[in-house]
Amino acid sequence: MLFRNWERVDDRWPPVARVTDHVGADHLLVTRHALVRQVLTDPDTYRPDNALDAVTPIPVAALRILASYGFRLPPTLANNGTSSHPAIRAAVAEVLHPTRVTAQVDWLTALVRDRVAALDAALAAGRPVDLYADLAADLPLLVLARLVQLPPAATATVKRFARAALELFWAPVDADRQIELAHTVGRFHTVLRDFAVTGDGLAATLRAGGQPPDTVVGALFFLLVAGQETTSQFLTLLLHRLVGEPTVLAGLRDGSVRVDDVVEEGLRLVPPIVTWRRRAAVDTTLADVPVPAGASVVLWLAAAGRDPALVSGTDQFVPGQRGSRRHLAFGAGAHRCVGAQLARMETAVVVEQALPLLVGADVVRAPWSPDNLSFRMPDALLIRRPATTGGSVDRADRLTGRIS
Ligand code: HEM
Repeated sequence: MLFRNWERVDDRWPPVARVTDHVGADHLLVTRHALVRQVLTDPDTYRPDNALDAVTPIPVAALRILASYGFRLPPTLANNGTSSHPAIRAAVAEVLHPTRVTAQVDWLTALVRDRVAALDAALAAGRPVDLYADLAADLPLLVLARLVQLPPAATATVKRFARAALELFWAPVDADRQIELAHTVGRFHTVLRDFAVTGDGLAATLRAGGQPPDTVVGALFFLLVAGQETTSQFLTLLLHRLVGEPTVLAGLRDGSVRVDDVVEEGLRLVPPIVTWRRRAAVDTTLADVPVPAGASVVLWLAAAGRDPALVSGTDQFVPGQRGSRRHLAFGAGAHRCVGAQLARMETAVVVEQALPLLVGADVVRAPWSPDNLSFRMPDALLIRRPATTGGSVDRADRLTGRIS
């Protein structure tokens, strides 16, 4: 139901559907591109306050654990509808400025090229490789660390924290698991609190702008999740989709398909953030459906991307097709993703470099995503090279899509 929304996209849904979740809470699920856009760009009627609310209410025992770590999450970015939002957003946008993003391209390309060479050798030797664990999982975090001074924590620790946060706030979870997650998230929060007071880079900029420590922590917390987990999810989902799109791969290879068109079509078809929430501020109507003040409005970004009103080839991967770029994978309006350009750059580099791995590959294990209201969180993507196309001597044939 509501927690596997990537599996249920089709045009049989009404424009606005009433749905009830696992704890009996009601939501209005918005399924059409124009309506999703309307809600996102009307902050007076639909506020972002509930963007980070836990879909499974956190019980007192887990709240106590969070409190024991001093956990607080004041509105800073995605869930901030107050007057403090523009200044915090501006500070984040500055560190993610397009010129700073472009300056990472050569470094990232070299890193990805090295990884792809190692994976290519493994495939040539007949071994399967995991494009999530061995390629996509940590790349966005490594790039983020070069752009934003981050707390000195091992990559694996940040990944564990980020995935725990996505589960605690967006997944249907039981009480025991909430306790476990509260410890993971709480522990990392203490690291962020220290860094908020002493750290350089974005933390220092926010402090200098007069933001209180809680706000600095809140901004870093969100950035460490949104700024890397989403992109590694997207890389995994897109690479998986591309393995099954030989014509697109051949087009990329011969230059008839542009990589940035592939990235946009991927965002339209396999967005890592499937839904995003707003809360109605006043009584209103949407597509003639009454929306009472306080209603949770779930915007189905993945369905908006496949709306027949947007593109003609709704489910087909057609890079550059009319409407492809108008997807809402990055949201819209005042809270539109501030890392969109970074995510696009990272994805373009990975797709271009990983091309030799994808052509002619077989999927051994497709990504599996756990139940979650908003995030895909794929766990693995195992591919291998069929014996008939194995070995570097066949590489040219694989790249042109010819199978001997
Ligand atoms: C494919 C990768 C990504 C996707 C699909 C994505 C998607 C989104 C979405 C749907 C929103 C909410 C927009 C709204 O409410 O209208 C958002 C907000 C945000 N994203 Fe991303 N994002 C991605 C990558 C990134 C990266 C790489 C960063 C930073 C390094 C980032 C930072 C942010 C921030 C700071 C916000 C809050 C903006 C605000 O409230 O002003 N995101 N993103």
